Amino acid sequence: MKVVRHYPLLTLNTLAIESTAEYFAQPKCEADVQACVQFAKSNNLPIKVLGGGSNVVMSDHVSGLVLQFTGKSCRVTHETEASVTISVEAGYNWHDLVMYCLSRGWFGLENLAYIPGHVGAAPVQNIGAYGVEVKERISAVSGVYLDSAQAFTLAAHECDFAYRESRFKQALDGKVLITSVAFTLSKVAKVQVSYAPLNKMAEQQGVPTPSELARWVIEVRQSKLPDPNQLPNAGSFFKNPVVSQAVFERLSARFPDMPGYPQTSGVKLAAGWLIDRLGFKGRAFGPVAVHELQALVLVNRGGKGSDVLAAARQVSQAVLECYGVELEQEPRLFD
Ligand code: EPU
Repeated sequence: MKVVRHYPLLTLNTLAIESTAEYFAQPKCEADVQACVQFAKSNNLPIKVLGGGSNVVMSDHVSGLVLQFTGKSCRVTHETEASVTISVEAGYNWHDLVMYCLSRGWFGLENLAYIPGHVGAAPVQNIGAYGVEVKERISAVSGVYLDSAQAFTLAAHECDFAYRESRFKQALDGKVLITSVAFTLSKVAKVQVSYAPLNKMAEQQGVPTPSELARWVIEVRQSKLPDPNQLPNAGSFFKNPVVSQAVFERLSARFPDMPGYPQTSGVKLAAGWLIDRLGFKGRAFGPVAVHELQALVLVNRGGKGSDVLAAARQVSQAVLECYGVELEQEPRLFD
């Protein structure tokens, strides 16, 4: 493993922002990570952890040592007739893992097909789509503390998972590198089609097998979400905001067709709907635009990180002015 100086990050982020890392390395095992921690300590460098680059906004220059873990093994650690637990290294491509599990008859990840990024990032923001959050399948997360170089394993219940949230975005933010994730999957095919568009498809075409469900999810995603290889983007740019019941009722009176999803803590609104209703689909702010089909996605046509952030500010300001609701940005700043 080499530590490289002034490394270009353009192809390592799906917003395709031109950026340079002061130092860059690709550790592939725990010992490599520990060597990187020592290098950073000796040179007084902060460490920044990069996964698949699908949820970050890069600044022009990223200071310190950028680490991208590239170990990709997947091994079975426990198996019964009904279930299997696998330990997957953080550098495994997420969608490849979903398809591999299906090919082995290990079920439970199919609703999360076609999400860009690496396995190591999945627990950080508790990726979720089409009625499933990855926290429902994770049994443990392992990694290395970046201050002490000590290895750790946290059981799922210690990870503080919530909607697009985890301990890795809160108390452990910037303090760990995740090396592997353990998933417990079912060997019994049962599908989750509660998400409205999938439910409709199941009514029309019958209950799908897990592989068919993965195909449906891929189709729905392809029909709504831009392919980052063709139109650079970071998926949903904002979280769906959760507001109190009282705020929801006030807004519903003004906007009777506004979607709302009851939660234990209030009502979750659809940020895409709030932005869409302002007429922002397709609206450009310099090189950055709101996607034409899914208003929650910003697409980047050659802009810098600062252009992306400026466009996001315009969108969230307009939402605040119209609805009085604050949008929280989902991609993380990488600077
Ligand atoms: N909507 C609009 N206009 C839009 C987008 C959405 O009116 O431009 C409305 C839809 O009609 C629907 C509601 O908003 O009534 C919700 O839309 P959708 O089902 O498309 O989901 P979302 O809330 O916009 C979330 C995730 C997506 C995930 C989908 C499907 C967040 C921040 N985003 O989007 O995640 O794929 O649900 O489960 O929770 C991602 O993280 O990159 C991502 C794409």
